[in-house]
Amino acid sequence: MSELKTLNSRFGIAGKLSFEQVGDLVTARVTSAFASATIALQGAHVMTWQPKGQAPVIWLSKFAKFALGKSIRGGVPVCWPWFGPHADNAQLPGHGFARTVPWQLLAAKALPDGRVRLDFELVQDEATRAQWPHDSVVRNTVTVGQELEVQLTTTNTGDAPFQLGQALHTYFEVGDIRRATVAGLEGCEYLDKVDGGARKRQQGQVAFTRETDRIYLATRGCCGIVDPALDRTILITSTGSHSTVVWNPWTEKADKMGDFGQDGYLNMVCVETANAAEDVVALAAGETHTMTAQYRVIAAAG
Ligand code: BG6
Repeated sequence: MSELKTLNSRFGIAGKLSFEQVGDLVTARVTSAFASATIALQGAHVMTWQPKGQAPVIWLSKFAKFALGKSIRGGVPVCWPWFGPHADNAQLPGHGFARTVPWQLLAAKALPDGRVRLDFELVQDEATRAQWPHDSVVRNTVTVGQELEVQLTTTNTGDAPFQLGQALHTYFEVGDIRRATVAGLEGCEYLDKVDGGARKRQQGQVAFTRETDRIYLATRGCCGIVDPALDRTILITSTGSHSTVVWNPWTEKADKMGDFGQDGYLNMVCVETANAAEDVVALAAGETHTMTAQYRVIAAAG
């Protein structure tokens, strides 16, 4: 039986969950009374999420490639087990390997309240172990409803401690980045990656007039994307994360990336629930760390 047939017969839920091919990737399509979503098994990567009556909340580039071993431009890439460049080996892929390898679907369930939950586990093999020689199990649980919840859980199954960097690198759809702001980071220190990593302090809400690439430290677990163009605020709440990355490539960098399109940057912003830079997690043998991000739309901006 083909992989799609097997998935549909084992996990399909009539009217709520089915599996289909998008480009080279196998994806789960969720439709419920509250929302629709698609999730690629490669990377356990949420590609779309649209609550009923809303414009899409998650941005997916019109030029995204759905190819084996390549990260999708948009959605909710899972950066794991490091964030950004690897600490001491520049040959290893930026943001880790979790977003470009297969994950196995362990379970899918229609919850009594109408939400649909999918549990994925990263498939480890020789190639992943060569990059990350630590015994660990990592799971990603995606719950689709009027809110979207993504929960990344890492267990150290070995007998030595390790350090973990990670992010739910979520691309959000905005009506016009030049008018959008991010609230909830006021007063936080950040590392400014477009200014050589200089340490600065945020004054007021974050506004966008040029390339923005910042790691906010000691963040409070709640922030919002205020979007006057779409007349809504996207609320982001998190647990198990103490850093928040805010990124928009603006024109020049987006041009170089090749999968943004010319105007793509105008309609997106990444606000990433993370453990990055000095906020990496030290995980002792036998310990589990859980990082959760929850997204919901509040009707009016501001
Ligand atoms: C952000 C980083 O999280 O991801 C940026 O802070 C980076 O520096 C961006 O450019 C996109 O990364 P990638 O690997 O998906 O192109």
